[in-house]
Amino acid sequence: MGRGPTKKYHKALNADYVKGTLTCLKASTIKRVINNDFPNVLNIEPTNRCNLKCVYCPRTRASKGVGLMDWKLYTRIIDEASKYKKLLMLNFHKDGESFLHPRFLEMVRYAKKKNVAKTIHINTNALSWTDKLMDEIIDSGIDDITVSIDAARATTFKKHKGVNCLSKVERNVRLLLEKRDKRGLHKPFIRVKIMEFAEVSKDEIAEFFARWEGIADFVQVTGIHSWGGAIKNVKVTDENSQSRYPCVIMWYALVINWNGEATVCSVDWNTEIKVGDAKKNTLHEIWNSKAIKDVRRYQIEKEYDNHKICRDCVVWVSIGDLTSWLTKKSEFYE
Ligand SMILES: C[S@@+](CC[C@H](N)C(=O)[O-])C[C@H]1O[C@@H](n2cnc3c(N)ncnc32)[C@H](O)[C@@H]1O
Repeated sequence: MGRGPTKKYHKALNADYVKGTLTCLKASTIKRVINNDFPNVLNIEPTNRCNLKCVYCPRTRASKGVGLMDWKLYTRIIDEASKYKKLLMLNFHKDGESFLHPRFLEMVRYAKKKNVAKTIHINTNALSWTDKLMDEIIDSGIDDITVSIDAARATTFKKHKGVNCLSKVERNVRLLLEKRDKRGLHKPFIRVKIMEFAEVSKDEIAEFFARWEGIADFVQVTGIHSWGGAIKNVKVTDENSQSRYPCVIMWYALVINWNGEATVCSVDWNTEIKVGDAKKNTLHEIWNSKAIKDVRRYQIEKEYDNHKICRDCVVWVSIGDLTSWLTKKSEFYE
C-alpha cells in the first residue's frame, strides 16, 4: 500500500460497496439510500473520444457517434444534482477517455465546488497525462482514480490496446503518486487495474502485483465481460450465478451519455435502453419516467430478454437477490 488514504478511505468504501467493486452497492446501503427524488450514483460521460483501440471494447461501433458533452448541459446536470441528497458516487467515465474532453478537469472542479458527491471517481488509461496536467489533477480535488493499465508486459499492452505505450502509462502513474506524496496529500486515491482472462497469463498477473503492490494505493484484478455479447472472442470471466435475479443497479444509478441520452447502465455501450434525454428533461423527471419504470418492471417480472444488453449481463450478480424487497417498492416500477 502507498502513502495515500488507504485504510481510512477503504473503510469508507467498504461500508457501502460490495468488496472489489465501485459499481455494486451493498444491499444494506441500497435499502438505506434509494429514493424517488434522484439517483444515488451518477455516471457522466464527458466524451467517448478515445486514444486507444482496445480489442475488448466495442466503443467504435456505437451508433451515438463520437462527441463531447456540452458545458451547459453538464452544469445543468450538476446544478440539479446539487439540490438533492449528496450522491454516493459521481463517476466521470463511460465509453471514452474523459481526459480528452478539453474541459474535463474544469468539470471535476465544478462538481467539487457544488459538493455533489461523496466520491468523485474516474477510470482512465492515463495516457494523455503531462507533468502540468498531473498537478492539475491533484489540485482538482478528484477523490479516486482507477488506472486501467490492464497489462504488465509491453507486448500484452500493445496487443490489447493497439499502441506501444505501457512504459509511458506506468511512468505517469508513478509520477502522479510521487507528486501527491511529496505534497503530503491524501487524495486522489490511486488504484491500478488489470483484467484476468485467458489472454493474460497467471504469471503476468503475478508480475502486475509485484510491480504495483506497495506503490499504488490498491491493485485491482477484475474479470472480463462481453459488453452484452458485443465482444465475441473473449471468454467471460466475470461473476456468474446459478439463478437469475433483478439487476438492482437501475434502482440507484443513472448514466448520462455525452449527447445527453440517459441510460440505466454503463455496460450499455450502444445506448440500447434509452430512458430519457437530459437535454430535454430534468434528471428527476427521467428518474420517475415511464421508460425507466418499464425497464425496472421487466427485471421484477424476470423478463430479462427484453433487452439484448441485459440478456447475458452478469454485473448484477454481486449485489444479490433483492426481489422481495424491490417488489414492495412499487413506486419505482408502477
Ligand atoms: C471502457 S473504459 C473507459 C474509461 C477509460 N478510457 C479507461 O481506459 O479506463 C472503462 C473500463 O472498462 C474496462 N473494460 C474494457 N473492456 C472491458 C471488458 N470487455 N470487460 C471488462 N472491463 C472492460 C477498461 O479496462 C476500463 O477500466
